[in-house]
Amino acid sequence: MEIRNICCIGAGYVGGPTMAVIANYCPNIQVNVVDINPERIDQWNDDDFSKLPIFEPGLAEIVKKCRGVNLHFSNEMENQIKKADMIFISVNTPTKVKGIGAGQAIDLKYVEASSREIAKYSEGFTIVVEKSTLPVKTAQTIKDILDAESKSKEKFTEKNFAVLSNPEFLAEGTAINDLNNPDRILIGGDNKEAIDSLVRIYTNWVDKSKVLTTDLWSSELSKLIANAFLAQRISSINTISALCEATGANIKDVALAVGMDKRIGKYFLNSGPGFGGSCFKKDISNLVYISNHYGLSEVAEYWQKVLDINLWQQKRFVELIVKQMFGTISSKKIAILGFAFKSNTNDTRESPAIYICRKLIEEGAILNIYDPKVSQNQINKDLKGCKEDLNVPNNNKKWTFSNSLYETFNDTDAAIFMTEWEEFQNLDWSTISPKMRKPAWIFDTRSIIKKNVIKKYGINIWQVGSGS
Ligand code: NAD
Ligand code: UGA
Repeated sequence: MEIRNICCIGAGYVGGPTMAVIANYCPNIQVNVVDINPERIDQWNDDDFSKLPIFEPGLAEIVKKCRGVNLHFSNEMENQIKKADMIFISVNTPTKVKGIGAGQAIDLKYVEASSREIAKYSEGFTIVVEKSTLPVKTAQTIKDILDAESKSKEKFTEKNFAVLSNPEFLAEGTAINDLNNPDRILIGGDNKEAIDSLVRIYTNWVDKSKVLTTDLWSSELSKLIANAFLAQRISSINTISALCEATGANIKDVALAVGMDKRIGKYFLNSGPGFGGSCFKKDISNLVYISNHYGLSEVAEYWQKVLDINLWQQKRFVELIVKQMFGTISSKKIAILGFAFKSNTNDTRESPAIYICRKLIEEGAILNIYDPKVSQNQINKDLKGCKEDLNVPNNNKKWTFSNSLYETFNDTDAAIFMTEWEEFQNLDWSTISPKMRKPAWIFDTRSIIKKNVIKKYGINIWQVGSGS
């Protein structure tokens, strides 16, 4: 089956970049991205490409090239679903906040709503592709919803569906590069014609040897497990960072030595403030939930520990910051460098900076926060509802937003590096040092600052995995 028209439901961090890349490599396919959020669609259609809703290196250039040609963003759900030969579901799949499984299970309401829209509006044979990360067996739910509609006798238009799983492995900050050069393309399904159609799209730019086809359940589960293994490495290295600090070893040397073993590999061994991002926590929580659901309590406990260690690392950072600063940070001014959960993204979802800033504010500190890509408005949302009354006017402010990297250090007692932005890595400490109140402290949660340089300016420094 030749695909001429694609619809993607969900114009987020996955839907937007993924569809932009497909449009770029497949000029003969019209790609329509739809979303229920009109504000997000307006941002995707903004003439000022710096205002796209997502910051990803290389994204604006592709959108500039393809938008209005074969890439379109709209709220026209009905129309675009009708026209589509293939529909990607790229909606958010958050953790349930209430009811059965609250705090662990995935809330499938957006996936269900999308499936119902597809069932209602699609015409003829439609290939439905799960792009969102979903609990194993969700494809059955989608099939049940679609089948119920296709068998409905009241309908005059004939329709039938094939459901495929095609999880996305891109990481934020490197999304375009990951999409251009994926390690693998995973497609799960049981309809050969549908699978071949999707394979043909990807092989426009991906070598066929990288395309892996499996059954639906293996594909769905592989995505969860890939994220779980990545997160597990971070928790593992973070436990060792504490051991290094206690023993005088250096985490960077340990990670290098361990990672040089080909069987272990050198990637994902950077210790830091714990993993953030919208997915690791929710996907591992879901893995814990699914394991318990199948009566595998030991499996559930094993993966729960990966989450526990992540939070423990953040708690221990707060405690050691307070301890180093003479046991109190009340009314002390602290610079926060970086608020995004990693560099090269404006995303703050589950960013360790949120937990750490909230705790510091609760301890009475006054924060001055700088991030090159995160807006004041976003930080405001993330820090709202903190125990202390945040962002109250005038001199009672618990945090302020800084537009200037160097001014962030003005009159501060300490500075905490939360995100590994490149611009933080070669700072002019001769300019910064006079701005800070002595004795001044740098807490480097990413180990990106050159310790010896800092010490020359009489500033104390603590780094993850090597201490002070
Ligand atoms: P997101 O919140 O950025 O985007 C989801 C979009 O879907 C939102 O704009 C929302 O308005 C829209 N939406 C929700 N319900 C809708 C409906 N019924 N109709 C139309 N639009 C609807 O989420 P995201 O980060 O893009 O993640 C999407 C999925 O991809 C999740 O399952 C996530 O686990 C997975 N994933 C994310 C990443 C990542 O880096 N963010 C990477 C791989 C996989
Ligand atoms: C992660 C996975 O890497 C992607 O493959 C996956 O598609 C995606 O989740 C998803 O399903 O959402 P992402 O969360 O965007 O991507 O970014 P990562 O690079 O994985 O970083 C996640 C967190 O781990 C960040 O807070 C990062 O700072 C931290 N991290 C990463 C470390 O602390 N140390 C490392 O060595 C690597």
